[in-house]
Amino acid sequence: MTEDNKLRHFLTLMDFSSIELKNMTDRAIVLKKMQKNGDIYEPLKNRMLGMIFEKSSTRTRVSFETGMLQFGGGALFLSPRDTQLGRGEPIEDSARVLSQMVDTIMIRTFEHEKLEKFARYSSVPVINALTDRYHPCQLLADMQCYQEHRGSIEGKTVTWIGDGNNMCHSYINAARQWGFKLNIACPEGYDPEQSIFAEAGDQVEIIRDPMAAATDSDLVVTDVWTSMGQEEEQTRREVAFDGFIVDDKLMAQADKEALFMHCLPAHRGEEVSASVIDGKQSVVWDEAGNRLHAQKALLEFLMGGFINE
Ligand code: CP
Ligand code: NVA
Repeated sequence: MTEDNKLRHFLTLMDFSSIELKNMTDRAIVLKKMQKNGDIYEPLKNRMLGMIFEKSSTRTRVSFETGMLQFGGGALFLSPRDTQLGRGEPIEDSARVLSQMVDTIMIRTFEHEKLEKFARYSSVPVINALTDRYHPCQLLADMQCYQEHRGSIEGKTVTWIGDGNNMCHSYINAARQWGFKLNIACPEGYDPEQSIFAEAGDQVEIIRDPMAAATDSDLVVTDVWTSMGQEEEQTRREVAFDGFIVDDKLMAQADKEALFMHCLPAHRGEEVSASVIDGKQSVVWDEAGNRLHAQKALLEFLMGGFINE
């Protein structure tokens, strides 16, 4: 838990120390066991999470809402369609008002800067539930999943195949925080942002050829070619990403113990073949299920020691 009532936000993985992140993963594994045992544990009784969704969601919404309920608190789904956010109320006003009433606020939006602005004006912790630039909550679940299946990821090789998008950026940050090597295979023109990439130094490398990038890898990860908000680019992207499918041939390049992950939702036959996502090396269902436990550990960390005054 945070020490002495200090306000912390979770906008990217870099907001926490490496130790804090690793402790959170260990805690998520404990919370998962408690949940499976049917233990009642309600550290956030009467606490409320506000959830602003400007993009669609299945996993993120259900995991946060369920996590809060299991912790004895509650969660409010706030969509711009039904709130003043959608009618142009300034983000800073919304932040100041909502943080008078709820104990933590989770936001899924487009521009990362909007999330940062919200956090600047919020008097309670703010969680990034996906922006165009990052998706840190997913990485908490992914790192937990790897640890559960294979132990520590430190010193391992992870291969990212596909778009240099929000998930790829969070994998770059994860490589820095968990200490693994990240190979990125993306087509020209779809690289991750240079500033994010550069900060990882030689821990991260772009290897254009997916087969070369996957060689001897311990974990192969991909994501959709067209993220939310890019729908009009779908056809152009299908052409650009031709040859970037994660299929059996590509998985055969990786270590024979390699795992496959995908944050979901997935498109079988586009970025991943059905044989891989539904195959023996795939851990996508555990990965998705861990969103609940990983975010419970996050909520406990952020809210456990924090009192909104
Ligand atoms: N992976 C993920 O964030 O899923 P949702 O879009 O369903 O929340
Ligand atoms: N890159 C995807 C992730 C979805 C969870 C998107 O932003 O749509």
